[in-house]
Formats: sequence, C-alpha cells, structure tokens
Amino acid sequence: MNDQIQQKSMQTVASSESKLIVPPDGVSEDLPDFTTHQYKDSYSRINAIVIEGEQEANDNYVAIGSLIPDKADELKVLGRMELKHKRGFMACGKNLGVVPDMAFAKKFFEPLHNNFKKAVEEGKIATSMLIQSILIEAFAISAYHVYIRVADPFAKKITQGVVMDEYLHLNFGEKWIKQNLSKVKDELIKANKINLPIIRSMLDQVADDASVLHMDKEELMEEFMIAYQDALTAIGLDNREIARMALAAVV
Ligand SMILES: [Fe+2]
Ligand SMILES: [Fe+2]
Repeated sequence: MNDQIQQKSMQTVASSESKLIVPPDGVSEDLPDFTTHQYKDSYSRINAIVIEGEQEANDNYVAIGSLIPDKADELKVLGRMELKHKRGFMACGKNLGVVPDMAFAKKFFEPLHNNFKKAVEEGKIATSMLIQSILIEAFAISAYHVYIRVADPFAKKITQGVVMDEYLHLNFGEKWIKQNLSKVKDELIKANKINLPIIRSMLDQVADDASVLHMDKEELMEEFMIAYQDALTAIGLDNREIARMALAAVV
C-alpha cells in the first residue's frame, strides 16, 4: 500500500501550462494562492462535498452493516473513521476561513445517494458495497491524492492521514466482493453500468472548482480509473470484464 502511494506521489504531473516533477514528499511547486476570493469560493463547494461525502460514508457503512449483521461491528468502526475524516475536513475549511456550501454538496451526492438507499432497501449487498466501498472510496482516494499535491500545509497533513484510512475501506469492499464474486457478478456488472456514469458526471460537475484548486480534471479521471480498475482486479475480475466495466465511464 505504501509503495503504491509513494509511486503515485513521485509521478510526473503534466498540466497545460507546465510540466513539473512532484518530489516524493508531495510538495508541489505550483501551489494556488489560498487567500483569494476565487479560491475560497471554489473551496466552499469542494470542502462541502468532502464533508458531506465523509458523513454519508459513515451512514452508508452503518446501513451496509444492517444487511451483513456479522460484519456490523467492523462496519461501524469504518463509519467512525469517516466521521473523524469529516471533522478533519471541517477544520480545513475553518482554517481557510471558508464556510462550506452544504446544500450544494447534498445535491451533488443525491443521485448516488438515492441509488445506494434503493440498493439497501432491496437488500442488494453487492450493489451497496460497490457504490460505497469501491466507487466512492476509489473516487475519494484518487481525489485526495491529487489534492495533497496542491493543498495548503494544514489540509495536506489532514488529507494524508485520511487517504491511508480510505485504502482500508476500499480493501474491506474488495475482500467481501471477492469472497462472494460467483454469486454477485451479474449484480455487480449491472450496478457498475448504472453508477459509474454518475461518478463521471460528478467529476464533470466539480471540474471548474477543482481547477481553481489546481486539480486537473483529466488527472482526476486518470487517477480514479487507475484506482477503480485496481480494485476490480483485486476483486478477481479478468481484463476483459474490467475493460467492459470501465467502458461504462465513457459511453
Ligand atoms: Fe473517509
Ligand atoms: Fe472511506
């Protein structure tokens, strides 16, 4: 896990204006001005998305626990980690003097949240696990990696701690799905087809604000697809199945 993070942080980052090498400690030479009105305005939405995402992650793990009683305690622990992340990101907003736009964030998550809720109501464990523990965690991991390179020093430290936990959450979902793959493969493919395009559209919606934070949209998408495809490999899907699932992001 550490090797993977190290490798990611050492990669060459290409942007339209400049090409720069990010050193192993993740210090970027291309940091935005954290004090401008434009930065704070965009941060009010990005910060809210992260806060809302962490809260919903807690709620989602508790809900998945209701479907798998023998894992309920373990899932509650994961949920508590998400609430700790939420508090950390709230502190990041406060540190910059930004008030998070929570109404925006609630709306941002609504389509995915509704699909998750429906899956739980229908007792579809694999679908709810794919949405929270694979798609959302891969989305968080990739976005946090990109953010760490351009974050203010306070937020950078918080986010570095958070991203380690998100790998544990991703691994939890990978493990459960792998153990149940033969029974849930068809459900998984169907859930991917419905929910991967939603992740894609969430990225599109956030692209302008992310670019103000010096987070490049294509880089976000690349990082997400790498994390997602790694997860599908870990689940035990073959290359053709993974390619087929990944295509749902582009059609
Ligand atoms: Fe989290
Ligand atoms: Fe998480």
